[in-house]
Amino acid sequence: MHAEKCLYPFLTVTFVSLVIVISAISGFLVSSSFFYQQQASISPPLLLRGPSYPPSFAYYISGGRGDRDRIIRLLCAVYHPRNVYLLHLSTDASEWERDGLAKLALLAVPAFRVFGNVHVVGKSDPNTHMGSTVLAATLHAASVMLKLDDRWDWFVTLSASDYPLVTQDDLSHVFSSVPRTLNFIDHSSNLGWKEKERVEPIVVDPATYLARRAQIFHATEKRKTPKSFKFFTGSPWMILNRSFIEFCILGWDNLPRTLLLYFTNVMISQEGYFHSVICNSNEFKNTTINSDLRYMKWDVPPQMDPRYLNSSDYDDIEMSGAPFARQFRKNDPVLNKIDEKILRRTYGAVPGAWCSGQRSFWADPCSKWRNVNIIRPGPRAEKFEMLMKSYFEEWHLNSSSCN
Ligand SMILES: *[C@@H]1O[C@H](CO)[C@@H](O)[C@H](O)[C@H]1NC(C)=O
Ligand SMILES: *[C@@H]1O[C@H](CO)[C@@H](O)[C@H](O)[C@H]1NC(C)=O
Ligand SMILES: *[C@@H]1O[C@H](CO)[C@@H](O)[C@H](O)[C@H]1NC(C)=O
Ligand SMILES: *[C@@H]1O[C@H](CO)[C@@H](O)[C@H](O)[C@H]1NC(C)=O
Repeated sequence: MHAEKCLYPFLTVTFVSLVIVISAISGFLVSSSFFYQQQASISPPLLLRGPSYPPSFAYYISGGRGDRDRIIRLLCAVYHPRNVYLLHLSTDASEWERDGLAKLALLAVPAFRVFGNVHVVGKSDPNTHMGSTVLAATLHAASVMLKLDDRWDWFVTLSASDYPLVTQDDLSHVFSSVPRTLNFIDHSSNLGWKEKERVEPIVVDPATYLARRAQIFHATEKRKTPKSFKFFTGSPWMILNRSFIEFCILGWDNLPRTLLLYFTNVMISQEGYFHSVICNSNEFKNTTINSDLRYMKWDVPPQMDPRYLNSSDYDDIEMSGAPFARQFRKNDPVLNKIDEKILRRTYGAVPGAWCSGQRSFWADPCSKWRNVNIIRPGPRAEKFEMLMKSYFEEWHLNSSSCN
């Protein structure tokens, strides 16, 4: 009843096909239950993008072995026809699981197939805990997304253990009033204990050259903290403007490439690479909002990862204005509560202004659609807008947060 929730329309298609076969045999005609098939056969409505239309997002959703179903559930929770999605299961997942993901990415909801905006990384990347291959996978995803679609505005990284706290209509609405130049990236140059434990050690990720899975290893030598650029660290979860992604991927300026060579041997490089590139580039350092826009709770003292959120945290989650939260256990009951109370999702995608179907307990309102270029923000957008305003004011006062 969880990831399967998203499969409901797919099962309906199967059921409808069965009804058609039976009705053909018995000669009686079913008319009203055809809509999934009819809808799926028409071409998608015109999608308009650009400065005078709501912004669109390129979502990179990554997970590992056993994450197939929650990636699909998360996809349903953040789906909108105007966005682009790239799903990645790292090499530790089986070919069978990856195959299943590709099938569900096509069939779970009729809109996935008609709009054709959900993609799966076919040749997966390794994901060594703490190694640099995670960063390579993110850069790979970013360049694939640049190629897949030339109109999106922001690149968003999500993990299988994340979940949204706003609808895509809310997100688009709030981002409409934000200059599209901005990047949301939590960062700091105040290294503290990280200098000894993260910056100075030299590590090698064997997944870059070995076919088999292995842990990273540490060199006996340490190296000095860089002097030719300033080292920044922060959260690996970000929302980055398209121009900045192009800057990192296309590399006409040598900074992103030089730092990439350096970060190959840095522990947990995805928590420093983009942060150091953006803050060391004159072009982009004034465009950073110092937040990852995620709701998280940390243990005291903090562990490597934030605490798993559960039903006891629901009230705090609801109070938060953040558009995403992490992290959640697979099928934790609090996710159902978020679906029901915050996203108002029953089956398939989160309903938005683009969904024109009837809302009832047997039908998915997003199995039919008309205009996908309009958005209708809900009550959550206000909370998020207030949060955004506070970041925005701080940014205005400081002009650059890369200190
Ligand atoms: C991203 O930011 C740059 C400036 O930093 C701006 O010129 C550009 O329009 C933005 N890109 C998009 C796709 O909005
Ligand atoms: C960034 O901000 C600094 C300090 O306010 C300013 O001197 C610099 O010109 C700005 N750079 C760009 C590219 O706008
Ligand atoms: C939620 O997690 C906290 C901390 O791990 C725990 O104390 C609490 O009992 C959990 N609540 C539920 C409903 O599982
Ligand atoms: C500006 O940046 C400084 C240094 O990072 C920080 O302490 C401060 O809270 C920021 N905001 C304002 C409004 O000064």
